[in-house]
Amino acid sequence: MPELIPVLKKKDINNMVVQIARRISSDYQDHELILIGVLKGAFVFLSDLMLNLSIPVQVDFIRVASYGSDTSSSGRINLTKAIEIDVKNKDVLVVEDIVDTGLTLSYIIDYLKSFQPKTVKVCTLLDKRQRRQANVKIDYACHIVTEGFLVGYGLDYDEDYRNLPEIYHLQL
Ligand code: IMP
Repeated sequence: MPELIPVLKKKDINNMVVQIARRISSDYQDHELILIGVLKGAFVFLSDLMLNLSIPVQVDFIRVASYGSDTSSSGRINLTKAIEIDVKNKDVLVVEDIVDTGLTLSYIIDYLKSFQPKTVKVCTLLDKRQRRQANVKIDYACHIVTEGFLVGYGLDYDEDYRNLPEIYHLQL
């Protein structure tokens, strides 16, 4: 049986989201900000994040597939849902659940830049730096993780565990 080891409690997650939302609200005052959530993993974080922002934003989603049922990136990335909002000359903030190798994020940034936004920045709930391969800049990170595969609060393992309200280290 896989073991779930607690990493972040509800209270910790909430504090982090409130703090990062405060920073984003201050940095993007008087900007036309569009949040682009990366499906499926980021939908829970994006939902909490936007509810804590004190500035108006628009929201869209992108979906890419890079992971199968394994716990490491395949490096092969397919766009399976394009953006629908026009981001030209707008400020875009990519909202990710977790950045691991950075290959997915690098692909997403290149894709978004092709629509000529004014700026593209990145906000992630979890920044897993140890296995980073792509040179991507994370502008807002709630929490840095050093190792392991995490699930809960939107993050899955083979589509399971997304609905857990807290974040766990999955030991297979
Ligand atoms: P990267 O391309 O290696 O940075 O992988 C990014 C994507 O892989 C994330 O958006 C997640 O969907 C998934 N991923 C990476 N690490 C984890 C993890 O620890 N738990 C759950 N999903 C993960």
